[in-house]
Amino acid sequence: MSELLTMWKVKEAEFPHHGTVEEKLKFILNYAILAPSSHNTQPWLFKIDSEEIYLYADRNRGLSITDPEGRELVISCGTALFNLRIALHHFGYKGEIITFPNPANSELLACIKLGYRIKESTDNNLLFNAISKRHTNRQNYQWWDAPQSLLR
Ligand SMILES: Cc1cc2nc3c(=O)[nH]c(=O)nc-3n(C[C@H](O)[C@H](O)[C@H](O)COP(=O)(O)O)c2cc1C
Repeated sequence: MSELLTMWKVKEAEFPHHGTVEEKLKFILNYAILAPSSHNTQPWLFKIDSEEIYLYADRNRGLSITDPEGRELVISCGTALFNLRIALHHFGYKGEIITFPNPANSELLACIKLGYRIKESTDNNLLFNAISKRHTNRQNYQWWDAPQSLLR
């Protein structure tokens, strides 16, 4: 199986419950990188510095014609951050996330720490299980009203 596909086969049972903070953060990144991104550019860079993850915008992956201001690029990094937070909650951590921590460095989008222990919510568990199943649907739209419960 190509490396591209094995990424989607990440096994939650392999979370290093007894590992170091760094090992835990590294494992959680497996879920961040499954996020959707504009034209599948995956324009995120992660740096782990022992107890903290730094999320950077990778402008080298920017699309100068379709996204000259990098708006979709930053949204794409936001989707990765969202997945990351879902995974943190799933493995029992609240997460301590500071967005745009350094006004002097606009490429640094967020700093993330594990934070204190929490119990995952049912909604978060649903989202977590969707991370490795989700993909963009390019088929025709179906014609039915979305149920109220889903809209909520
Ligand atoms: C900010 C953003 C904009 C996107 N715009 C479009 C779009 O205009 N049309 C489209 O078909 N998909 C769009 N996508 C979906 C991406 O093409 C898709 O996430 C990417 O190719 C990876 O495929 P996957 O979602 O199946 O993992 C967008 C995704 C993001 C995050």
